[in-house]
Amino acid sequence: MLLTTPAGRSRLLRPSAPGVADALFSLATGARGDAELTGLAPRAGDALERELAALLRQGVLNLRCADGDRELLRVGGTSELAAITPVRLRPGQRLRLSRFACLRRLDEQLVVESLTGHTRLVVGAPQVATVLARLAEPRDVGELCAGADLPAAVALELLELLVAGGVAGAVDETGRLQEDADPVPGQREFHDVLLHWHSRKGLAAGAVGTVYPFRGRFRPLPAVKPVLKPVIALPRPDLARLRKSDPPFAEVVEERRSVRRFVRGSLTLDQLGEFLYRTARVRGHTPAAEDMPYARTNRPVPSAGASQDLELYLSVTRCRGLPSGVYHYEPAAHGLTLVTAERDAVLALVADACGSVGAAGVPQVVVTLAARFNRMSWKYRGLSYAATLKNVGVFYQAMYLAATAMRLGGCAVGAGDSAAFAWITGLDPLEESSVGEFVLGIPLDR
Ligand SMILES: Cc1cc2nc3c(=O)[nH]c(=O)nc-3n(C[C@H](O)[C@H](O)[C@H](O)COP(=O)(O)O)c2cc1C
Repeated sequence: MLLTTPAGRSRLLRPSAPGVADALFSLATGARGDAELTGLAPRAGDALERELAALLRQGVLNLRCADGDRELLRVGGTSELAAITPVRLRPGQRLRLSRFACLRRLDEQLVVESLTGHTRLVVGAPQVATVLARLAEPRDVGELCAGADLPAAVALELLELLVAGGVAGAVDETGRLQEDADPVPGQREFHDVLLHWHSRKGLAAGAVGTVYPFRGRFRPLPAVKPVLKPVIALPRPDLARLRKSDPPFAEVVEERRSVRRFVRGSLTLDQLGEFLYRTARVRGHTPAAEDMPYARTNRPVPSAGASQDLELYLSVTRCRGLPSGVYHYEPAAHGLTLVTAERDAVLALVADACGSVGAAGVPQVVVTLAARFNRMSWKYRGLSYAATLKNVGVFYQAMYLAATAMRLGGCAVGAGDSAAFAWITGLDPLEESSVGEFVLGIPLDR
């Protein structure tokens, strides 16, 4: 028998006892109970059980629980790492829902997924949702069965499947699951695991990578955000001169460090223009083509899919020739457009960034990086947000190096206030939201 897994890998099965092949083939056409399978391979001994257990571990088989003809729950693997192991529960055991379980709508179905189990359980009846709700607190198996509005034996089987699928587990005397006592899962947050699982291949169901899921349905976002306001032109540095006068690359890399102490003076417009020109300007345009059906730009920083999904917003406190305000950098025009000159807006973004880095003195500029998310999600499945965050890292390093080469100083900011950014810019965070900040200024101890 040749078995092809959902991940596209093939495995040759060599049924080791008479009837095992018949029993396994029968599973291709529908669900079978234990007794029915044993009936197809009466002389197989425990060979059939071993083979079924192996297939379950590989996430190839689904387990289901039914009340008569009505399917209550179906458990399947979402990865080759799924480890579905049938369990027998004892009365008196207490169970609880896993922190890594997620209930959601998937197309027409309600599913509950276990991240740590790499499983998806299709919920077939409201009684199952009631059991899940009651599992928010640790509860006794007997109590759960009694309150399930199902025949007791069916309710027990249902609980056993929830545990086999990793959605619930047995707790200790203090009501803790193994996943909370164990320092490995115990220190992981649900959403971090969810993002990692879905942005890498093999860990969860679903495509990861270039799919163009919305081609023909929505238009891709333009390569450069349209300019809607008057542009304040920025000075352009003389690149030929910089090639000669810049410190050597090795020196820039070795001198680079995070700077959190700034002098009171002002940046010049030349410095601001040079910094942005060196890191963020558009160097060239490429129109959409058959193999790359969206327009792209080339800039000093690399970007996943050449998407250049990051927009720069500058909260300027002190720059000669430029009034304080929040500005948007226009990378094609190499200029700025004013978002707001309101003092409170500048203060909110600058104070938040300074608080995160413990800045001494106010930096001359805080750069906020905001992602136009649909630049990524029009092209990719699974990894769009992960790629955006990688692009932020790329940008951070480019800004660190440019600042160092220019004898300026800066520091990346890990936790910025995206709500403040939303109310200041009026942007819907689902569409475009801040994903990183960088404080930039004239270092105190240069
Ligand atoms: C992604 C990222 C986020 C950071 N977030 C902060 C931050 O919020 N506050 C801060 O003071 N430094 C932050 N930093 C700077 C690091 O603390 C700094 O790079 C590290 O301590 C090493 O020091 P160095 O940059 O001087 O080599 C961040 C750096 C990176 C790369």
